[in-house]
Amino acid sequence: MVNRRTVIAGNWKMFKTVSEAENYAVKFLAEVKGIQDLDIVLCAPFTALYPLKNKLEESNVHLGAQNMSWADQGAYTGEISAQMILDVACAYVILGHSERREMFGETDEGINKKVLKALAAGLTPILCVGENLNTREEGKAAEWVRSQVIHALTGILREDLSRIVIAYEPIWAIGTGRTASSQDAQEMCVSIRTTLNGLMGSEAEKVPILYGGSVKAENIAELLTEPDVDGALVGGASLDPLSFVKLVHNAASVFARVKGV
Ligand code: 13P
Repeated sequence: MVNRRTVIAGNWKMFKTVSEAENYAVKFLAEVKGIQDLDIVLCAPFTALYPLKNKLEESNVHLGAQNMSWADQGAYTGEISAQMILDVACAYVILGHSERREMFGETDEGINKKVLKALAAGLTPILCVGENLNTREEGKAAEWVRSQVIHALTGILREDLSRIVIAYEPIWAIGTGRTASSQDAQEMCVSIRTTLNGLMGSEAEKVPILYGGSVKAENIAELLTEPDVDGALVGGASLDPLSFVKLVHNAASVFARVKGV
């Protein structure tokens, strides 16, 4: 069995003030301390990152941002650089989320520049890919996602591939309560791995591929028992600390039962 890390990442999106984030961290950390088999990540809004850095220091919970600029610094009003998020102890950054692609005009080309910048800065990008309902119904989902992966990873070095995480998030399953079946998730994760293999050969085996879209404490176990689903990117169900704790615990017990080495 390939020993890939299992990653459970919460994406808070545009929720939580500083005090809400701090209260969350206290409750969450108390319940997940001691879990070492999973990489647990909280991807918070920019304004909550610094206070969370202080709360998460020396804990087993990593910090992530939800976006960053492809530029290093300069006259880019409203942007945040890789160096700035590193400065507040982020290890991860979500890139290319469908909400950014759909509502804020992010392109494959810009996402590729961000992926390269994040890797060069020493961050782990969580690259999001996924098709909309039309594309799925036309039977073109795999082709669509393959193209997103190839564009986003253009120019990356073979040795950097093992430092990225990919999240397959079908748009029709985000915030809708409609989860892809675990077989659909597994199929697409295999298809993504095949694409990675075509680009970089056996390094592809090291890349954690997550599923995202209406993941909850109740369905995480079934998703994680699929051999190529290496974790989850969780939106709504990560907003309440105790619900997310439950999800993390359910993930950890699957890890121990099925994926343990
Ligand atoms: P939900 O878990 O709310 O469906 O959101 C998924 C998502 O977009 C995570 O990035």
